[in-house]
Amino acid sequence: MRIYRASNYEELSRKAANIISSQVILKPDCVLGLATGSSPIGTYKQLIEWYKKGDLDFSQVKTVNLDEYRGLGKESDQSYVYFMHHNLFDHINIKPENINLPNGKNPDAVAECKRYDGVIESMGGVDIQLLGIGRNGHIGFNEPAPSFERNTHCVDLTESTIEANKRFFASADDVPRQAYTMGIGSIMMAKTVLLIASGKDKAEAIKNTIQGPITPECPASVLQLHRDVIIVADDDALSLVD
Ligand code: F6R
Repeated sequence: MRIYRASNYEELSRKAANIISSQVILKPDCVLGLATGSSPIGTYKQLIEWYKKGDLDFSQVKTVNLDEYRGLGKESDQSYVYFMHHNLFDHINIKPENINLPNGKNPDAVAECKRYDGVIESMGGVDIQLLGIGRNGHIGFNEPAPSFERNTHCVDLTESTIEANKRFFASADDVPRQAYTMGIGSIMMAKTVLLIASGKDKAEAIKNTIQGPITPECPASVLQLHRDVIIVADDDALSLVD
């Protein structure tokens, strides 16, 4: 595990964007695994800025996103497909056919999860997977559980996640109760994992990820077993790490 410290969110975002940029420059047809949430917004802003300056070209890049709320689609501004278009895809030269997310509008969970695993496999795996982390240590929507789930699956969101994500909705009642998420197995298959974390409310999860026991009760702890993990975190998020 390589851990890079940043003094604030801006610096963290720049460092993370630099790492993703180097991947796009070194391998223009790379597969980027992407995340939503507050953490990557600054990283995406920076990538857009460099694209606009002519320093980055996404014309051959393919993407796979970690997750999507079950029941939400493009028309909903809380869906992850909407988020990704709004915060990244609409501002760069990525081809629409190279963008992949689980389809939240597919009510057939078994078929959708199987389809998405097929998509990831057909791309030959992910070159670099960007991850945020939940306060409870979730990655994607892999919530604390008795065992690690390998493949894309449909999850029931925990109360802690619903509580954390309600800021994007009118009320907690409006937060969908289920999501489709890439499994831990798919995340672990990525050649490189880039985890970003900012703020004191992530400190406990980051400590457990880096120094805790490897357990599905803290899903991110499994990253200790990955051969190429980069963590970029600010002082607050690293404040409990020895
Ligand atoms: C988002 C995702 C989640 C978030 C996590 C942290 O696609 O998979 O695991 O990364 O909930 O969210 P923020 O960044 O909003 O604190």
